[in-house]
Amino acid sequence: MKRIMKRVGVGLGVLVGLLLVALGAAYAASLSKEGRVYPARTDDFELPTAPEQLAEGERLYISRGCGDCHAEDGGGRTILDDAPGRISGPNLTRATASYVAADWSRSVRYGLRADGTALIFMPSHEYFAMPDHELAAIAAHVRALPVVDRTPPPNEIRLLGRVIDLAGGFDLFPAARIDHEGARPDVPEPAPTAEYGAFLAVMCTGCHGAQLSGGPIPGAPPELGNPRNLTMHETGLASWTGEDFRRAMREGITPDGRNLNPDQMPWRNSARMTDVELDAIWAYLQTVPHVTEGSR
Ligand code: HEC
Ligand code: HEC
Repeated sequence: MKRIMKRVGVGLGVLVGLLLVALGAAYAASLSKEGRVYPARTDDFELPTAPEQLAEGERLYISRGCGDCHAEDGGGRTILDDAPGRISGPNLTRATASYVAADWSRSVRYGLRADGTALIFMPSHEYFAMPDHELAAIAAHVRALPVVDRTPPPNEIRLLGRVIDLAGGFDLFPAARIDHEGARPDVPEPAPTAEYGAFLAVMCTGCHGAQLSGGPIPGAPPELGNPRNLTMHETGLASWTGEDFRRAMREGITPDGRNLNPDQMPWRNSARMTDVELDAIWAYLQTVPHVTEGSR
């Protein structure tokens, strides 16, 4: 018996040792991802100054989700402080004070710092295709905001966060998913078409999954909720009309009378989408494969 215990003991020790080695390897792999330097790209465009373009910039800043992480006033906020780590969207009214167009593009579309390393958690893979005129309007809006006197606490990635990142749960370094050498995709003209909807629906995939089938977000705390299936499957939106969809996106009310939680489903952002944008997303949703909830 003693011998067996001893052997089990040794076995456990070896197991614990192996686990530590694996965690160490995960940590090292994650650090090397963090330290990677990507090639610099310089894009140039004019920042608009006309009031209606600034208003459009404000609409885009909210409807494209910037305000969720950088706060509506641009002063930044902490979006996660949990076992995986602490992540804050920085105060853009300060961080971008000396930005020129190329800096906006580098941060927002490529997810990079000035030294070419990856920004943490800034979802640039979703903004990579953003056309110049949209980014220019957003930049002009941020530049026109009063400077906010607030400093969100700095980012801190904890071991669990690195493990979830390496396991593919969420993207700590979205720059790793971007093609830094190739051309950025052409975005179709705004129109209620599936093609334009496909461009817009990229910002739904972070929560609803690449296949838009919903289900729990891997690695996310439960208070982020359970994104629903947006495909035309019976566990999804099969019974919805375009009108139902618009109402859910604008008022947060589903056809069966449920109120969507605005802290989970950002319908206050989508309320700022134009008719054309919402109709385009709806048209696109008709074209994606119907899959059961949770296929991700
Ligand atoms: C899911 C949260 C999230 C969303 C959505 C988001 N950001 Fe960020 N953003 C971050 C985080 C976190 C950082 C800081 C990363 C770091 O310091 O490593 C960041 C960094 C930045 C920076 C770099 C600031 C600097 O220090 O130079 C800019 C500029 C920026 N974001 C603009 C935007 C704009 C514009 C949008 C909308 C189109 C947007 N972000 C949407 C989380 C987000
Ligand atoms: C930050 C995460 C997040 C993002 C981004 C997001 N959603 Fe959601 N969505 C959710 C969650 C969570 C729910 C469930 C909320 C609830 O039940 O109160 C939801 C629910 C919905 C519903 C209601 C479905 C039903 O049957 O109740 C629709 C429609 C929807 N989302 C569409 C979209 C579209 C379209 C986009 C992109 C433009 C999008 N969502 C972006 C998290 C998100």
